[in-house]
Amino acid sequence: MINRLNDINDLTSAQIERLIALAEDILADRAKYQDILNHRTLATLFFEPSTRTRLSFEAAMLELGGNVIGFADPNSSSATKGESVADTIRTVACYSDIIVMRHPKEGAPLAAALRSPIPIINAGDGGHHHPTQTLADLFTIRREKGRFDGLCIGLCGDLKFGRTVHSLIHAMSRYDNVRFILISPEELRAPDYILEGALGGPNAAYRETDSLESVMPELDVLYMTRVQRERFFNEADYVRLKDSYILTRRMLERAKDSLSILHPLPRVNEIAVEVDDDPRACYFKQTYYGKIIRKALLAAMLGVCE
Ligand code: NCD
Repeated sequence: MINRLNDINDLTSAQIERLIALAEDILADRAKYQDILNHRTLATLFFEPSTRTRLSFEAAMLELGGNVIGFADPNSSSATKGESVADTIRTVACYSDIIVMRHPKEGAPLAAALRSPIPIINAGDGGHHHPTQTLADLFTIRREKGRFDGLCIGLCGDLKFGRTVHSLIHAMSRYDNVRFILISPEELRAPDYILEGALGGPNAAYRETDSLESVMPELDVLYMTRVQRERFFNEADYVRLKDSYILTRRMLERAKDSLSILHPLPRVNEIAVEVDDDPRACYFKQTYYGKIIRKALLAAMLGVCE
């Protein structure tokens, strides 16, 4: 059973496989799962903005027959009165069976989990990790490509602050012969603790570049990200870097026909809207798959499904 999901490395590869298999079954037969979390309650504690992650967790819980409580704006919670995260968690644990938490401070969901009598899922902690987005990404890659091994993945944009990239690198580096191409401006390179922690091994080869166009023909998966404005120390740097990459239809002329374009969303400017009609654009499917794999995760963490 999965008790905590702080980092994607809290899951073994076998557990990821079981979640994907369960998600496939949920996709095939939604009705079979519609009551499995009756009388269970999910609390969503979002200390940072969210659309997809919070609403997909809430939709997932409701579609499984469960209930949802929580807040989307910390200004409406006792955090504004000075309550510690630990005390908030101990309180919310009296009202719910599982907690999903997003927080701007790196490590806050882990600190909360250490104090919590019920399971906690990290829904994004600062510029650190975002393991459930990675489950959505993995489920999308598996459905699109049929495998993880042997893929060439381009990660493009803000690799420094982009937490979804950090978690995805950790997850994909477990599989055989995966090649990573890290595409970013020098100032937004992936942090060394991510590169050294995940990409030093024999299976995962990587190289860094600032040119998306030059590597386009090699890619099986292109994972675009937005520049994370809220993590910059000054607006001038953000303005200078925000349009470093804009994926257009013309740039895709040199890409493989089988390329899969992913993006955790929200998109700002980094994918032109004209790309949405390209059959290789998978990001809205990815959003849908995110809800399905979160249903599988909730069922597994509440001990209802294997
Ligand atoms: C991502 C996040 O919150 O890190 N969004 C999401 O959860 N789908 C990506 C982002 O905000 O850029």
